[in-house]
Parts: sequence; C-alpha cells; structure tokens
Amino acid sequence: MRCVWWTLAAGALLCLPGGAGLDNGLARTPPMGWLHWERFMCETDCGKNPSGCISEQLFMQMADMMVSNGWLKAGYRYLCIDDCWLATQRDENNRLQADPTRFPGGIKKLADYVHARGLLLGIYQDVGKATCAGYPGSQGFYELDAQTFADWGIDLLKFDGCNYGTLELLEDGYRRMSIALNRTGRNILYSCEWPLYARRLTKINYTEVAEYCNSWRNFDDIEDSWTSLKYVIDFTASLQGELVAAAGPGGWNDPDMLVIGNFGLSWDQEVTQMALWSIMAAPLLMSNDLRDINPRSKALLQDQEVIAINQDPLGVQGYRLLKVI
Ligand SMILES: *[C@@H]1O[C@H](CO)[C@@H](O)[C@H](O)[C@H]1NC(C)=O
Ligand SMILES: *[C@@H]1O[C@H](CO)[C@@H](O)[C@H](O)[C@H]1NC(C)=O
Repeated sequence: MRCVWWTLAAGALLCLPGGAGLDNGLARTPPMGWLHWERFMCETDCGKNPSGCISEQLFMQMADMMVSNGWLKAGYRYLCIDDCWLATQRDENNRLQADPTRFPGGIKKLADYVHARGLLLGIYQDVGKATCAGYPGSQGFYELDAQTFADWGIDLLKFDGCNYGTLELLEDGYRRMSIALNRTGRNILYSCEWPLYARRLTKINYTEVAEYCNSWRNFDDIEDSWTSLKYVIDFTASLQGELVAAAGPGGWNDPDMLVIGNFGLSWDQEVTQMALWSIMAAPLLMSNDLRDINPRSKALLQDQEVIAINQDPLGVQGYRLLKVI
C-alpha cells in the first residue's frame, strides 16, 4: 500500500494498492527498450539470412538505429538480446560464451559499443539446465553467470524458466540469481518469468516475486497477431486483482513485447496495444525491425503523451473497469 497526498480541490490522502518492487534502485518506472525475440526468434543461419540472424551485427545496427532515429530520445534505452546468443558449450572454466561465429567480438565488446551510444545492454539466460532453445542454462552456475554478466557490462537480465526440474529448484533459482546479481555490485535489472512457470504448480505469492524481480512475465509469449494480443489482455484482466496490487516502482507485470511495426496487426490494433500497455504500466519492449519500420507505427511508438502515462512515476497499473461483451 502506498499513500499519496492528493492536492486537487479539497485535498485528501489517497491510498493505492501497489507493491514495493525489488530494492535495487532500478525500474522505478517501467523499463523501455527493444528485445529481439518476437521478430527475429532463434534465427541462427547467417548464411541464409545475414540481415535477420542473431548476431552482433544485428544488435550493432539496432543500436545505431535507436540513436539516430529518435528511439533513445523517446525513452527506449535497453537493447536486449533474447535466446540463441550462446555457444553450445561453456568454456573450459565453465564460463558462458557467445556463439563464436555470430558474435566474434564477444559480448563485452558489444556492451562497450552499446554503452558508447548511451544505451544499455540486456541479455538472456534460463533458470534451468538448458534455455528454451536448448543452449546451456544457469542451473548450478548462478553466481558464476551473474559475475560473468557483470564483468561484461550487462545492464538487464531476462531470466527464462524452461527445463527447471522441480518447483523448488525453479523458485530457489529465481531467488538465488537475484541475490547473485545484487552481490556483483553492478546495476542489473532483473526480468523474471517465475510466475509464468510456477503458476502451473502453485499459487503465486506476488509479494515475494516483487521482492526479487524488477519485472515478471505472467503469461505465454506474445505473437504478432490480434488473437495473441487479446489472450494477453484477457488473461491480465482475469487476474487483475492480484496483478495490479503487485505492480509499482521497482517491480512490474510484464505482458510481453510490443509487436507494433510488424505484419500482424491493423492500425487500430496497434493503437490498442500502445494504449493498453501504457495504461497497464507495462515494460515497453518493442520487437520489430528498426531498420525498416513504417513512419506511422514509429510515430505511435514514440508518442510522448502516451509514453508519459506509461512512465508516470506513481507507477499505478490501470485495470479493466467494465466488460461490455
Ligand atoms: C543490493 O541490495 C541492497 C539491499 O536490498 C540494495 O540496497 C542495493 O542497492 C542492491 N545493490 C545492487 C547492486 O543491486
Ligand atoms: C508471501 O511472501 C511474503 C514476503 O516474502 C511473506 O511475508 C508472506 O508471508 C508470504 N505469504 C504467503 C501466503 O505465503
């Protein structure tokens, strides 16, 4: 519960439900940026698809676009790598390493490139033995991997939940990685998928999730279609009693990526996603191709009045008041 002195008219003390998020100083408003998954998925064939494969070149080009085309200025600061960046094996000291052909310079060099442009770099790992696409996971290596990310200059970790084993290992893994990230001393925003996986097995304690995570996914991956968007919106509304109360500065419900600027949504549907994600105080992580995006979608994603609602420092998540049909 957080209380705000409301000075309009007579003045009243207004108390709002709202979680206290992870106390690491990060994500005081919903994080904004770009994440490769929905648009580029696990394309690893750079021979066949040189401009769309998961490679350092893709991220360097997106970094350039984020700066030159107004995205950073509009608030989109985190450039995030998703699954399929890893080599198939850890190195001889058990440290994670990027795929050597697709990331020949390594992640540290990419982070330097991104930081030199005023952006922040996000990376992906998994709480289980393997990532969802089958690359080496963090289970058994939480402290080492957190330190590796800190050494490379990583600013955000998306921590997936495939291949976790038991519920106890899943929940313990999410807690341990949070503590490990904290102990590195580096500011690393921690984006969890804990409730999405744990919901199948137990009731979620959102107070606890918010103590460990800066944001958390509750529902399946979004796809580039209205059907998918509608699932996410309806799911969020059906659980809003729990979800709205959990959100607040430092910790946010994550309904997954903005798919605006791709192929599957009409203009009205794009407007709907931007409006609802802003009202829901959702992380604004676009997944699209910034090298090739139509001007209308770009203007929508950069609309400062809508973004201001999403970035309201009070951090109250809006909810559905009425369902007509
Ligand atoms: C680690 O946790 C402490 C206590 O919650 C917090 O004050 C500090 O800012 C955190 N540090 C980092 C680097 O996250
Ligand atoms: C939920 O987690 C909080 C914080 O860790 C704890 O204080 C509370 O007892 C938990 N609630 C339940 C029902 O387990």
